[in-house]
Amino acid sequence: MRTRRQPYPDLERIIEFDFLRATEAAALNTLPWIGRGEKEKADAAACDAIRGMFDLVNICGEVVIGEGIKDNAPGIFKGEHLGTWTPGSHKFDLALDPIDGTTNVAKGLPGSICCLAAASPEGTTEASLKDIPTYYMMKLAYGEKVVRYMQRTGIDIVSIRNPIEEIIPIVAKALRKRIQDLAVVVLDRPRHGRLVDAIRSSNAMVRMISDGDITAAIAPSIPGSGVDLYAGIGGAPEAVLAAAAIRCLGGDLQSLMWPRDEEEKKQVAEQGLTHELQQLFHAPDLARGNNIIFCATGVSDTPLLRGVRISGRTAVTHSILMRARNKTVRMIEAYHDLMHKTIRLRSTRRETPI
Ligand code: FBP
Repeated sequence: MRTRRQPYPDLERIIEFDFLRATEAAALNTLPWIGRGEKEKADAAACDAIRGMFDLVNICGEVVIGEGIKDNAPGIFKGEHLGTWTPGSHKFDLALDPIDGTTNVAKGLPGSICCLAAASPEGTTEASLKDIPTYYMMKLAYGEKVVRYMQRTGIDIVSIRNPIEEIIPIVAKALRKRIQDLAVVVLDRPRHGRLVDAIRSSNAMVRMISDGDITAAIAPSIPGSGVDLYAGIGGAPEAVLAAAAIRCLGGDLQSLMWPRDEEEKKQVAEQGLTHELQQLFHAPDLARGNNIIFCATGVSDTPLLRGVRISGRTAVTHSILMRARNKTVRMIEAYHDLMHKTIRLRSTRRETPI
């Protein structure tokens, strides 16, 4: 007897594993480009695997925050449709960074991940993943203990508008740490000269990274990551992706748009968004609602995830998969038999051996 088809009550529980397959495939397809000095080819390989995997997934996915616009690198762009778009299938807004830390991949350095966030709109007119009109944002990220400390004590000094020298002692108190043991991650850029001096003169530790600030912003929300604060100016899409992850973990990311010049300010004004230039965004302002899924796979080692390892004929990937609704955090170690493993690529439109 034929059973009637039942609608699945919580489709995201199944689909999330396909999202994870997409970041795994992107990390695996990037493997041949590690240390080859070809960052665009690495990015293109990751994009090809993500698009190819989504070609198998029955969703209506629209990229609302893409990557690649920043430096004209190959990327998955805003407005692109991913998924099969079979009529009636679930709608997702997607934010993607096929590789955060492409330069690290090209140089064979640690600090690169493939990641994506997916959100299904919750009957609100507002977009669930906010598209930021500036290229950069100023960011301050911290974990849940700091959030709770501020709520308990009513102390609101941990604000991106305050000098870092005032923030550091409060964070140390919230974490019950000595200031000298506090680790603040900062992107190694000339624009952070004063920030770095201020952190050091507060007696906290600066941990510079050359690239990859999505992981850096998420790390304070992961107990045991060794990172207590992330501060500084980095890419705006990266802020939204980090905010989506933080919504699943606890903690917060405060951010402000950081226009590079008058021309960029003018462009924001032309979009009627001048008021947003002064607005302080918290993680729930960038990644709204509870229907948020975040997943990432390590390409090279980060404080959050180990990179892809090859052991004989096996490739081992390390990923994180989580949802804001239930805050379950899955750390997934996957073993891919290279004799059998194939990746569905958009370029070949078929399963392709690695
Ligand atoms: P890509 O992997 O796209 O090159 O981004 C790396 C990155 O370090 C981001 O993590 C960060 O947000 C941004 O670049 C900082 O931009 P910039 O290199 O222009 O300072």
